[in-house]
Amino acid sequence: MKFNTIQRQGDKLVLLAQTKLPQETTYLELDDHHDVIAAIKRLDVRGAPAIGIAAAYGMALAVQQAGRWDSEYIEQVARDFQSARPTAVNLFWAVDRVLVRVREQGPMDLEGTLDTLWSEAEAIHEEDRLMCERIGKYGAELINDGDGILTHCNAGALATGGIGTALGVIYTAHEQGKKIRVFADETRPLLQGARLTSWELMQEGIDVTLICDNMAGMLMKQGVINHVIVGADRIAENGDFANKIGTYSVAVLAKHHGVPFYVAAPSSTFDNDTPTGNDIVIEERAPEEVTEGFGRRTAPDGVQVYSPAFDVTPFELVTAFITDEGIKPGEREG
Ligand code: MRU
Repeated sequence: MKFNTIQRQGDKLVLLAQTKLPQETTYLELDDHHDVIAAIKRLDVRGAPAIGIAAAYGMALAVQQAGRWDSEYIEQVARDFQSARPTAVNLFWAVDRVLVRVREQGPMDLEGTLDTLWSEAEAIHEEDRLMCERIGKYGAELINDGDGILTHCNAGALATGGIGTALGVIYTAHEQGKKIRVFADETRPLLQGARLTSWELMQEGIDVTLICDNMAGMLMKQGVINHVIVGADRIAENGDFANKIGTYSVAVLAKHHGVPFYVAAPSSTFDNDTPTGNDIVIEERAPEEVTEGFGRRTAPDGVQVYSPAFDVTPFELVTAFITDEGIKPGEREG
């Protein structure tokens, strides 16, 4: 990749400032964990695996800066990270994993605690990179030369510690020499498809066409979409999953048109502690992201706004999950 989404540089965490894309490629150099929490909330770092990785590094920053390593402090920092965004399970998974590791180590000094925290964050980062590669490999087997693929939001290198999940499949198929055409949903309200997916695919020389969210049905009807591939923020035990708002509509359209609908996600996104999609907490975002999303007011003052950041797609609409452990069938037939 020609950019680094998340990087440890010595005692600092360096994040690509995603709210500035595509106009500017700038990096945030952070040494204060409060700034990492703020970056997660504002979506300068976003995407389920990426926020987990950033939070894991952020726990190390918190101990480093405060010079405190007692369990009361570390657990408070963990809670602060986990309350940054509610839907993506990877955030909870990564922070809990760091906590378990610190507890397992038993009593330590500052230096020992920091070593444990940095090395666990690096392990989470590296494992995510490897999981993306495996997802790419398994998923690319489903793709044929000449296929058209629709994706929603951004489940790419900008959202993970590696080549991405949904986009990992696309990069791998491209590397195998398959000629593919990607259609990127713009993804209102925050335009992750327009600002991020089309940007990162273009960086890598992939044939990408940006469409407004309301065009997907027409393209499916025209027969130019052979597969839909999306990412996920949390996959419940029964196979229902949360992903960026608009994913559910795409899944319904895909079923109607007989287009296979794939969900690409690492093991860290599967949450067996959440029984069904109804149990997933859906983040709501500020009304201004809808009414002033294009940098100017596009709705009357005082209008009521409802802005859930994610929706839940039922298992019955999923053709298959593309995971780092292989392809797991969904419930949809045909
Ligand atoms: O609000 P965002 O930009 O964090 O939403 C991201 C998504 O919905 C992604 O599709 C999901 O996290 C999977 S990323 C591999």
